[in-house]
Amino acid sequence: MPEIKSLLKEERVFEPDAAFARQANWNKKTVAEYRKLGATSPKRFWAKMARENVSWFSPWKKVLDWKPPFAKWFVGGKLNVSYNCLDRHLEGENAWRRNKAAIIWEGEPGDSRVITYAELHREVCRFANVMKGLGIKKGDRVALYMPMIPELAIAMLACTRIGATHSIVFGGFSAEALRDRINDAGAKLVVTADGGFRKGEAFPLKPAVDEACKKTPCVENMVVVQRCGNRVSMKRRRDHWWHELMAEASPSCPPAKLDAEHPLFILYTSGTTGKPKGILHTTGGYLTHVTTTAKAIFDLKDSDVFWCTADIGWITGHSYVVYGPLSNGATTVMYEGTPTSPGPDRWWALIEKWGVNILYTAPTAIRTFIRLGDEHPKSHDLSSLRLLGSVGEPINPEAWIWYHRVIGGGRCPIVDTWWQTETGGIMITPLPGAVATKPGSATLPFPGIHAEVLDQEGRPAKAPNGGFLVLQHPWPGMLRGIWGDPKRYREQYWSQYPDTYFAGDGAHRDRRGYFWVMGRIDDEMNISGHRIGTMEVESALVSHRDVAEAAVVGRPDAITGTAIVAFVTQKGGAKAGDALAAALRSHVTKQIGAIARPADIRFTDALPKTRSGKIMRRLLRDVAAGKKTAGDTSTLEDLNVLAALRGDDES
Ligand code: WTA
Repeated sequence: MPEIKSLLKEERVFEPDAAFARQANWNKKTVAEYRKLGATSPKRFWAKMARENVSWFSPWKKVLDWKPPFAKWFVGGKLNVSYNCLDRHLEGENAWRRNKAAIIWEGEPGDSRVITYAELHREVCRFANVMKGLGIKKGDRVALYMPMIPELAIAMLACTRIGATHSIVFGGFSAEALRDRINDAGAKLVVTADGGFRKGEAFPLKPAVDEACKKTPCVENMVVVQRCGNRVSMKRRRDHWWHELMAEASPSCPPAKLDAEHPLFILYTSGTTGKPKGILHTTGGYLTHVTTTAKAIFDLKDSDVFWCTADIGWITGHSYVVYGPLSNGATTVMYEGTPTSPGPDRWWALIEKWGVNILYTAPTAIRTFIRLGDEHPKSHDLSSLRLLGSVGEPINPEAWIWYHRVIGGGRCPIVDTWWQTETGGIMITPLPGAVATKPGSATLPFPGIHAEVLDQEGRPAKAPNGGFLVLQHPWPGMLRGIWGDPKRYREQYWSQYPDTYFAGDGAHRDRRGYFWVMGRIDDEMNISGHRIGTMEVESALVSHRDVAEAAVVGRPDAITGTAIVAFVTQKGGAKAGDALAAALRSHVTKQIGAIARPADIRFTDALPKTRSGKIMRRLLRDVAAGKKTAGDTSTLEDLNVLAALRGDDES
């Protein structure tokens, strides 16, 4: 598989620091023991984790029920996620955590709130009662379209308290994208806010919900948090203010005793078709996975302040802003705004202000900060940091080294964690007290996780050849399906190799067995760590009246990792040019959201196709990257098309 051969030649090795290793939650000995157990019996390993890290109302009868590709974990066990994240920190020997900070929240304008475990418990119970009052019952779906404010975490936990299934839609998605997700999930209730602060201004959210809910027959009620005070219109009987309902609600609500396989949340992610997939996660396995990984990989201690910078609208925020840290009784930081507002040092000021000990962020952010200059982090005291994490895309060794040196002061281990919306929690990662790291490698699978890189024939790829990243044994946090679409679930993830999960990433392993993940090999792009399907952008483009055909590919970008390039053939009569390009960019923003806006739009008379009519994306990728086209072009229907796209006729 010559295309998936890594060009990275990174040989530096960072051994675990002895002082860090001595105090680590999981040291070398623990990790060796768990690796052994996880290799011989993943079921026994995960059952041990479920017993030690999660509180159950009643024990499971069977650890794993595996009827490929459908898994059930901890069958018959009963538990409640909000009980694990809240109540158990208020009782018995943990009762001292009552007044410990659960959430340290900072708004973009500089306002802040520190919410203790006891207070968070009361707020969650109140909102659970509010939802009950609005007729929400176990199994109902609730859509959350909110800024990064504590009410989002409160609403999530309140759903888990009564067994409602939340579906969070990132606040950057457009009204159209929101509408489709609300309808697909069949949400009865939408929780939103008037707006949130971004880049120094109030960014309105309620109007998008109003627009979306013109065509969402399933929605009965809407609860609106007043965050910015911007004017919104409230529809009588349907719309309610959060603060008004909360003022009336009782602060006590018993946690529902839910089945381990009760649907916890749906989270939509891009796929290889135009329609997003509703990834379904359930209760017991997911909580076991995120609680265990947060404790082991982030080495969470009661004294730590942990900051995962992801928006809760993405899986990273679900698992490592909210559920993983809170289930461990940790202090988690939430920041509302943009990293560079009001100035380029905002994050570093936040770390200094709150004494953040562990920082978990994305390579695209790191690369942005590299460009902004070392003087910004250097103007703040970052000595509280003791561990750094990276997620969302491959981290290039230069960014890794900068992160280590400038942010970590050369003393903090870096955990480069590979996982996906579908996996629920971290899968391939260093353990900071036990595993030597190499910049650019996510190192080794977590104990109990059976990852491999396979070639086309299904054999383990031999270094230096690469292949497809797969998971060969079910794991507790795995998706349980695609909401309402078991056929697509099977085809998308389980049809490439027998009983094996196909991740959609290319990777290779080095001689030490370390994994080097190279990125998506399917029709998905990873833009600043956000997954966008090429088909999603293409269908948005062709829905514009001036577009006849569109093909979308990614090209490498120094900051965002990948940038979107759209090749467009316009309809007769439409004039190609800057005006149409601008119109198409805003059209895509309206259809999907600003994260999907193409960086480049290139007009062309025709798209290169095979004789069977398939668009030749590999060629377009080369053209977009400005490369001379490599490989076999004999199937090209019209070589002139390619020459024209590359601008050969000009040279
Ligand atoms: C990519 C985010 C390399 C990968 C948690 C994966 C990574 C997709 C890494 C999932 C990493 C995530 N190294 N690539 N450490 N982490 N990815 O669903 O392509 O938003 O398939 O989940 O991000 O993105 P998602």
